[in-house]
Amino acid sequence: MGLRHKKASAGGGHSTSGISPNSTNGTSGTSPDISENRPSWRRDPLEYNLDRSWDINAAPTTRVFNLTSSEIQAAPDGVLRPLFVINGQFPGPLIRVNQGDRVLVNVTNQLSNGTSMHWHGFYQNGTNWMDGTVGITQCAIPPGESFLYDFTVKQFGTYWYHSHFSSQYTDGLVGPFIVHSPEESKIQEMYDYDQVVLLQDYYHDLSAALLPGYLSSGNENAEPLPDNGLIQGTNFFNCSSYDSDSGYACDQNSTRAIFNVAQGKRYRFRLINTGAFGEFQVSIDNHTIQVIEADSTLVHPVTVNRLPIHVAQRYSILFHANQTTTNYWFRARMNDYCFSDQNPVLDTDVRALITYTNSTSDPAPTESVDWTYALDTACEDLAPSSLIPYDPLPAPQVDITYPIEISFQIGDFALDKAYINSTTWVPPAIPTLNQAVAGLQVNNANFTTSGVSTAFDSSQLVIDVPTYKVIDVLINSLDEGAHPFHLHGHQFWIMASGAHGAFNWNSYPTLNMTNPMRRDTITVDAFGWALIRFKADNPGLWALHCHISWHMEAGLLMQFQTRNDIMRGWAVPSDVLALCHVK
Ligand code: C2O
Repeated sequence: MGLRHKKASAGGGHSTSGISPNSTNGTSGTSPDISENRPSWRRDPLEYNLDRSWDINAAPTTRVFNLTSSEIQAAPDGVLRPLFVINGQFPGPLIRVNQGDRVLVNVTNQLSNGTSMHWHGFYQNGTNWMDGTVGITQCAIPPGESFLYDFTVKQFGTYWYHSHFSSQYTDGLVGPFIVHSPEESKIQEMYDYDQVVLLQDYYHDLSAALLPGYLSSGNENAEPLPDNGLIQGTNFFNCSSYDSDSGYACDQNSTRAIFNVAQGKRYRFRLINTGAFGEFQVSIDNHTIQVIEADSTLVHPVTVNRLPIHVAQRYSILFHANQTTTNYWFRARMNDYCFSDQNPVLDTDVRALITYTNSTSDPAPTESVDWTYALDTACEDLAPSSLIPYDPLPAPQVDITYPIEISFQIGDFALDKAYINSTTWVPPAIPTLNQAVAGLQVNNANFTTSGVSTAFDSSQLVIDVPTYKVIDVLINSLDEGAHPFHLHGHQFWIMASGAHGAFNWNSYPTLNMTNPMRRDTITVDAFGWALIRFKADNPGLWALHCHISWHMEAGLLMQFQTRNDIMRGWAVPSDVLALCHVK
């Protein structure tokens, strides 16, 4: 495998000559409006402004959403490609609810392949079959069919949703999911405006077209490299990067995200990395930022200049519009140190405009000044110890520790696959949840072996965890790349982590249990490790996987089976089972 070292920077400023971004309208507050000539497939970015008149104290209610996925030709950055859109637009619509609400989402599949929708970060306690994970909690929704997701939200904060079928979300099936709560009142006074900001790396080809090359014989885990990065689903792209015979149709007609701010006001930006592969380092010229939420955990404010955010992670940042009244860059630098190689067409300096003056002109370099702090030359999270949850929750004593090893190995036919221990995941035709419930109902003892389950086929690594036990997973990476690991159905405590070396088992008695950071996605550094803890109290089959689209497809996924006592009495709802019966 190629070393993941930093190559000479491609350099070069972002030329905007010949590009005239559309003007903003004059509404107050944050108005990343790129409306005037907005193509019909481009979502109005104003939809991501969270109206502050929303009633966080409203009585629980049922909220209904319809998401229809289809394929169109669109050019979010000027390069035309087949794009998967929701309700005809990209990125996906905002889903906004209150804690306690019941959410009904009717997902209709107008794609030519199967699909699903996963609600990233939600516990789904009692509704494991609504987790949206193909091969684990459901079969794919077939083309032409609909499926109704039905669950109650028992948490609050910044989340997102995405397809969980193959690498499909990479092609556009992503959107923000915001949950409010009366508990938010204690932080609401810290900001005047609340804004969702989607960051993502972006490819000019369908992921299904990129996968065969990635997974082909002899390719040693050289992941497809992003061609661009988007903020609110938009960015410029320099069409001259492609030769006329490249096969890409490119129009120099795109735009960039614009955030209007008012002097003296304070802003909450809820950053969500909905990308496939790339970590971003976020900063705002001339403005310090304060982190107040990581994934969905509120934290005591941490002041930073640059914030790394890896795939699937969320951070809320605050900034005060207290600088000279002019324009500034919001920067989301894609960290290509994390990549195995460089893509010559990729400009890693992804930007949005912050304007105090409702103007679209590029900031003057003398006025908008980047932070001089060097960019990270590693793909690491903000130190977990710097994040202290606002609502303290001590970690319980551990009962069982499961060490796992992640690696890429060349196997049969020179195929490079990802392994957790000795298993490389392939989604089974019958979801593991359906298999487990059926097996438990008939008292098949294979489904109650605690530890590594023997009940599933050899491409499933399922650990059956004893009810109510406190589980530590020690993730050891033998790989040279960084991996954002996500656990479904839980927030885990980060007990310890290291960028290299190994966990010192003798340090167990000295771990901070008082109020360690808890979240749902953690970056395990190259050749690094992390010790995460969760309580086995949520019934079902839960994936733990690297969220890099390519790595999931290469097999970097395992599962936990939890609370057999409850699952034994379950019947998977008939509409969920019906998805597996091909018509
Ligand atoms: Cu964001 Cu397995 O999911």
